[in-house]
Amino acid sequence: MIKKPLILGIETSCDETAASIITENETGNPIILSNIISSQIEVHKEFGGVVPELAARSHLEKIDWIVEKAVKKSKKKINEVDAIASTAGPGLIVCLSVGLSFGKALALSLKKPFIAVNHLEGHALSPKLNSKLEYPYLLLLISGGHTEFLNVQGLGKYRRLGTTIDDALGEAFDKTAKLLGVDFPGGPQIEILAKKGNSDRFFLPKPIINRGGCNLSFAGLKTAVLKISKGIKTDQDKYDLAASFQKTIEEILRKKTILAFDEFEKQNTDKEKKLVVAGGGAANKNIRSMLLDLCDERGFQGILPPMELCGDNAAMIAMVGLEKFKSKKFDNLNFPAKPRWPLDEKAAFLKGAGIKLI
Ligand code: KG4
Ligand code: ZN
Repeated sequence: MIKKPLILGIETSCDETAASIITENETGNPIILSNIISSQIEVHKEFGGVVPELAARSHLEKIDWIVEKAVKKSKKKINEVDAIASTAGPGLIVCLSVGLSFGKALALSLKKPFIAVNHLEGHALSPKLNSKLEYPYLLLLISGGHTEFLNVQGLGKYRRLGTTIDDALGEAFDKTAKLLGVDFPGGPQIEILAKKGNSDRFFLPKPIINRGGCNLSFAGLKTAVLKISKGIKTDQDKYDLAASFQKTIEEILRKKTILAFDEFEKQNTDKEKKLVVAGGGAANKNIRSMLLDLCDERGFQGILPPMELCGDNAAMIAMVGLEKFKSKKFDNLNFPAKPRWPLDEKAAFLKGAGIKLI
């Protein structure tokens, strides 16, 4: 019997210290043997956002025992691991450096291959951990730092169809939460508040909704929330603003996803059309069901990772490691941490003043 690869994944790009061991079964389906995540919510709560230096210090304090715990839970021995995959970017450089250095040192001491992983590719491949998913597929990545539509043509082969030109979707949720006085991390709380509110109460703008193709923008929406939030008096006002925000986000995503479907269909003639939604924002239940309904309407198969794999985790990093291991794509130990590392390196940078959209 051929030994199946055993991959250790390490993730420290932002405020989650995570390690995971995965392998695959006889039919080639991945199996998660362990997936340990230690969040730093308590560390950053009083500051209302992630403080890079504190995050890095916390990663440093925890990385050894998180990896040790992942190995123990997997019931394997560290020297049985076939490769070590660490997130190398994008993210906070001081945070990335912890997991990246740890992974490199481990690979060197165990004399095992090292694999540098793009965190966004981790999100892109996360549904592969629990469903069979063949390339190509349309990816809607909605995380705290990124919001983009990509045509995923293969491992490492991405064509960007649209991106946010300012804030990311998760960022818009987090900022709205802050304005409504919700404790960090507030994004997921908005969904809960929205359930108690009237979504037709406040009119909020949908920036670049009728131009810019499937590019997106959320900054104007945030400014409108800021203005309205100043007049908020009761809890019901708060719920209504959360509900109006949630509804507006869904409308923006619906319209832009339809445009992305068209773009994807122009680039791919396959009969089987798939939409994968990944990243922290994919944990939003209303966004999930709206997109799944849209997929039904448009003949796309909607594929979403389970809730626990939407946010940052190391199983998705190990998943990229597994695919790269099978294609023998290894990296040198001098691979740098990359704070900016787009999936489509050829796509134009579309942020800041002076950008031109059609
Ligand atoms: O993918 P992720 O865990 O980390 C990054 O790579 O950024 O995404 C985190 C983001 C945060 O901005 C958080 O507010 C958002 O995902 N998020 C949500 C929900 N859960 C997490 N946004 C809306 N609804 C949720 N249920
Ligand atoms: Zn992420």
